[in-house]
Amino acid sequence: MSTTLFEQVGGWPTLQQVHKIFYDKVYAHPWLGKFFAGHDQQVIEDRQTSFMADKMGSPESYPGKEIRLVHETMYITPELFDIREGLLDEALRESGVADELRERWLRIDGAFRNKIVKESEASMYNNDWQYKKPIIIPKP
Ligand code: HEM
Repeated sequence: MSTTLFEQVGGWPTLQQVHKIFYDKVYAHPWLGKFFAGHDQQVIEDRQTSFMADKMGSPESYPGKEIRLVHETMYITPELFDIREGLLDEALRESGVADELRERWLRIDGAFRNKIVKESEASMYNNDWQYKKPIIIPKP
């Protein structure tokens, strides 16, 4: 019988544990962490868990906003995205997620790269949100 990736990794407890370790690293990071200033870590962890659970085939669907819209005002460079992926990889290893499942998890997460990464600062302004304030945090 085929099971979902959600079941194979161990369901909610695994997602919660991985995302706790992951966001501890993200919040502590001198560059990436600044994007999350003022955002409650527990709330961010719970949303990421709900989002990824949905993509991994859990029975509950993610009720939040579309991922491109959530990040559209943030200047997220390819380098910053790679840093984030590295921290997620570390968190998955530290949680003991098996290699094959870790790779599948990272592939799903990485599939959202094109919705989030901006190739240049100028490319951010081809949007319809020009009345909002862009979030631009230079590399320290
Ligand atoms: C370097 C890359 C990223 C940065 C700097 C970043 C930053 C943030 C920040 C600051 C928020 C809070 C936004 C708010 O509440 O107004 C957020 C929310 C969120 N992010 Fe990211 N993010 C990144 C990549 C990703 C990726 C790759 C995913 C999915 C695979 C993701 C999933 C989410 C989700 C699900 C939320 C909650 C959205 C909601 O409120 O409904 N993020 N992110």
